[in-house]
Amino acid sequence: MPGMARREGNGGLLYTARLAVSPSALITDAVMFEISPASHLPKAAQYEELVAQARALLAGETDWIANAANFSAFVFHSLSDLNWAGFYFHDGRELVVGPFQGKPACVRIALGKGVCGTAAQTRQTQVVRDVHEFPGHIACDSASQSEIVVPLVAPDGTLIGVWDVDSPVVARFDAEDAKGMEALCAVFIEAALPRAS
Ligand code: SME
Repeated sequence: MPGMARREGNGGLLYTARLAVSPSALITDAVMFEISPASHLPKAAQYEELVAQARALLAGETDWIANAANFSAFVFHSLSDLNWAGFYFHDGRELVVGPFQGKPACVRIALGKGVCGTAAQTRQTQVVRDVHEFPGHIACDSASQSEIVVPLVAPDGTLIGVWDVDSPVVARFDAEDAKGMEALCAVFIEAALPRAS
């Protein structure tokens, strides 16, 4: 169909890109991506689909900020019941907020502090059923009731930062979300460090 283009990935058709311009103008003009949530699927299958979509979304781009921004928007608009989704990157000393979707958030978090700092320090995914029960939880948005934070570690063991997702629903995240979010984060790391993984 004229004016339409398709991007294929491991999972088949992932995005329909509606081109607002003629194909000859593709290099400089915008392409609009449509996210097609797979919320009708069981959670594990939904994450498989999201992983394939994330691969297609980040394919060929290694710029960290660009990928982090698109990754945040992609996850935020693909999953239900989220009020914040984004990155904190390690600057060598502490965590500093990166691209995200949601309300403005606290900028710096020390390693070991809050859910993010705990994930960064322990290098273990934190699934917090109720943020009010997590000692030292840092409240950036009073709507947040539950949270999941995945540590981002480069193949050489360097701490990159964390991926943080908040929900206004208690017990929004479980072990399947942890596995799925970790798989999504692996796609982000792989896109940014293609030769190291
Ligand atoms: N709740 C996090 C702080 C970051 S915000 O959720 C965006 C924490 O306790 O580390």
